[in-house]
Amino acid sequence: MRDVVKEAAETFGVVHSLKNHISSLRVLMGLIEPGLSGSDYEKYHRLMKRELEDISQLMLCIQNGRDPDSQQVNLKDLLKDLYALMAPRSELAGVDTELELPGDLPEIPGNLLFLAEAFRNVWENAIEAMERGGKLEITAAKSQDPEGHPVIEVTFKDNGPGIPAEVLSRIATPFVTTKQDGMGLGLSTARSIAEKHGGELVISSGAWGTSVTFRLPA
Ligand SMILES: Nc1ncnc2c1ncn2[C@@H]1O[C@H](COP(=O)(O)OP(=O)(O)O)[C@@H](O)[C@H]1O
Ligand SMILES: [Mg+2]
Repeated sequence: MRDVVKEAAETFGVVHSLKNHISSLRVLMGLIEPGLSGSDYEKYHRLMKRELEDISQLMLCIQNGRDPDSQQVNLKDLLKDLYALMAPRSELAGVDTELELPGDLPEIPGNLLFLAEAFRNVWENAIEAMERGGKLEITAAKSQDPEGHPVIEVTFKDNGPGIPAEVLSRIATPFVTTKQDGMGLGLSTARSIAEKHGGELVISSGAWGTSVTFRLPA
């Protein structure tokens, strides 16, 4: 039998993803203004080019009906680029973001487009949860999964209000949202992307805030 919910989640997931890229383009266009220093201009211009490339890659995936090929992904570069993209929104919300990346983080096999999408979903949730300010710590570290296989763990830890217990128990389910204009696809998409990479998404939450970890095979 066709899994209608899954198919709808995938379709809306692509729409959600396109929406993300278009809103990033809008943010970047707003940042490119007269008087900007040369290096900032180059940085935002490069990021805009990447957003456009991502959009055309996504369109190609839809057209071909298949995912892009796997490649070696430099998580450090990816997280730094996302930081530049998310910084204006974080500043507006008063979210102090700390990015802790070790110097010797190895590249991992994966899909840059999808990993960026997954990280961005979790990053956006953290900012949305701390709209009156807070702290977001993003770390990437070498570790081992419970069976002793090498993994890279990328963790987003915020000190927002936490995820309500009744939401937490259904978090893997598409379309679960507590937001008026939410689609409820961010976390389920992030989880399915982690799983597509042979990894997992580990979520914990409490009165202290929320922590979301991508455990990805190294
Ligand atoms: N960092 C977080 N802090 C608090 N609640 C969160 C956080 N991340 C996710 N949530 C909760 O999980 C729900 C589902 O998130 P998500 O799948 O991204 O969908 P959406 O953001 O569209 O609501 C959110 O509506 C929110 O209630
Ligand atoms: Mg979300």
